[in-house]
Amino acid sequence: MEFDLSEDLEMIRDSAREFADRSLRPHAARRDAEEKFPTEAIQEAAENGFLGLTVPEEFGGAGLGNLHGAVMLEELNAADASVGVTISVHISLVCSLLAKHGTPELQAKYLPRLATGEMVGAYCLTEPQAGSDAASVRTAAKRVDGGWELTGTKSWITTGETCGLMVVYAVTDSNVKPGSGITAFMVERSYDGVSVGKKEEKLGLRASSTTEIILDGVFVPDENIVGEVNRGFKIALDTLDGGRIGIASQAIGIHRACLEASIKYASEREQFGKPLDRFQAVSFMLADMATELDAARLLVHRAAWLRDQGKVATKECSMAKLFASRACNKAAIDAVQIHGGAGYTKEFDVERYYRDARITEIYEGATDIQRIVISRNL
Ligand code: CAA
Repeated sequence: MEFDLSEDLEMIRDSAREFADRSLRPHAARRDAEEKFPTEAIQEAAENGFLGLTVPEEFGGAGLGNLHGAVMLEELNAADASVGVTISVHISLVCSLLAKHGTPELQAKYLPRLATGEMVGAYCLTEPQAGSDAASVRTAAKRVDGGWELTGTKSWITTGETCGLMVVYAVTDSNVKPGSGITAFMVERSYDGVSVGKKEEKLGLRASSTTEIILDGVFVPDENIVGEVNRGFKIALDTLDGGRIGIASQAIGIHRACLEASIKYASEREQFGKPLDRFQAVSFMLADMATELDAARLLVHRAAWLRDQGKVATKECSMAKLFASRACNKAAIDAVQIHGGAGYTKEFDVERYYRDARITEIYEGATDIQRIVISRNL
């Protein structure tokens, strides 16, 4: 058993850290305040090869897997979680899905454009009535000559406004039980009949755009079906196993940022004649934060490694997401507590980390959904 990062994992970590320090961290607070989508940062990330990380080499990507993705996403999210979620969805829910389940023609059509960032990916599963109960989607796909016509509303779509390509799940057979008649389609944002609906005003991740996507009789050719007709829900859940590694990595990144900020503040701020970290109450908080960060990272790396070996890792992915997101939220609460009143203001980044942390327990399967998945697999 080997716990050190291999040389190539170290290289990914170092280049992602260098990019995050240079191009993300200095702008994250401003973008959050202005709710400004980080277009330039995403493009720069693409130029650094981060958007093509999970795209096979023959299509212009790095051909790497979940473990490399986890190491990279930790770094990006430690600096700017809005950029982090945009890239997580792109690499783990869109590129990986196409690389694993797409036909060679569909891969050739889209993967090169996803790798260069010409198209940024979005994942359209959720609908107003289909959140945790993802099988209850109602977006309808009607058979027409040469393809399908999609009509419905998708909600809470990360990168909805600025994406170029979407994975859309729609009902192709409504006469079977929920989940058994769903198909996955690749839909270009520029197709006739696709429009952006309500834009969400969010507590955190304010620089990432989260919108409704409205599909009004959108023609999608047969060649854009991913996998088989009526087998899309299993693809959705399999892809979400990998997506959960991405969100768990985001939680680790935010958690680490909370720890680093707290160590710094507690060593500089003095009360009662000594730095805060000389008080046992504060140093114990830091000790717990650091221990839980390590535990979360180990769970995430194990899940990523298992998936990279081609093994079914549904339970391990959910364990990683469950533990990492809860530990991250606890770390964010403690980080604000250590900073005191200062942590409650925008002068310190922990205020943003606290808001960004909340969503890690909600999207890509809320905490109780992870417990359902784990308990079903015991
Ligand atoms: N991989 C492959 N197949 C799987 C699977 C997996 N991980 N998990 C289950 N399946 C199979 C099952 O074996 C079953 O197959 P059969 O029909 O042949 O028996 C089928 O898929 C349906 O599975 P379930 O019966 O378990 O389905 P369910 O309706 O009970 O739902 C659930 C299970 C776990 C609750 C699921 O609905 C779920 O994960 N909900 C959460 C939704 C979610 O995570 N949404 C995220 C939206 S995307 C997002 O947030 C991205 C973003 O923008 C940040």
